[in-house]
Amino acid sequence: MPIVAPSLLSANYLNLEADCKMLNESEADWYHLDVMDGRFVPNITFGPMVIDFLRKASNKVFDVHLMIEEPEKYTEAFKKAGADNLTVHIEACTHLHRNIQQIKSLGMKAGVAVNPHTPVSLLKDILADIDLVCLMSVNPGFGGQSFIPQTLVKIRELRNMIDEKGLNVDIEIDGGVTLENAKSIVDAGATVLVAGNTVFRAPNPTEMISLLKKI
Ligand code: DX5
Ligand code: ZN
Repeated sequence: MPIVAPSLLSANYLNLEADCKMLNESEADWYHLDVMDGRFVPNITFGPMVIDFLRKASNKVFDVHLMIEEPEKYTEAFKKAGADNLTVHIEACTHLHRNIQQIKSLGMKAGVAVNPHTPVSLLKDILADIDLVCLMSVNPGFGGQSFIPQTLVKIRELRNMIDEKGLNVDIEIDGGVTLENAKSIVDAGATVLVAGNTVFRAPNPTEMISLLKKI
């Protein structure tokens, strides 16, 4: 069964509490929280303050996806806000190894996200140090975009790299995940499905989460 991580980017910010309640009572495993700074990506969302409020409303795993430059400046703030997993972009980190050690030393699981154009082979020497790879299957910045098919090739390649080394690293797919393409994504070797629009625009989000779990 895949880990299902609804992305709150597509939630209703006028009534976040209702969406938290829905997620808490659903089969969702993680909250996927997208932090954007308007520099690394052309959009701005929220930061530790909002996550700190959400933390009071849920005991689920908080999977925080940082689409920001200089993420090392904010690692501690996200830990304090309640992040369980902290994911940084390979494209935003000159000293990725140091950033990963910093995340782990604070007791969080460490993830590395890669943009659609970034080859997974670049992860070779960091794979043993991390808990999760977030493969972007859209260009980061916005919800509701279409899945880039080449991602399936990247999933298979990464799955082989992980298995060859006998590692236990989650492969998370972020962007354009739907009920139609989820099976091919899981069959290729992914373990975590992020879904924003597919969950929050569904007539029945709780049921949509159950359907994704059953993939
Ligand atoms: C995009 C974000 C995603 C986004 C996915 O930059 O990282 O997490 O919320 O949204 P959907 O599932 O609607 O493509
Ligand atoms: Zn994301």
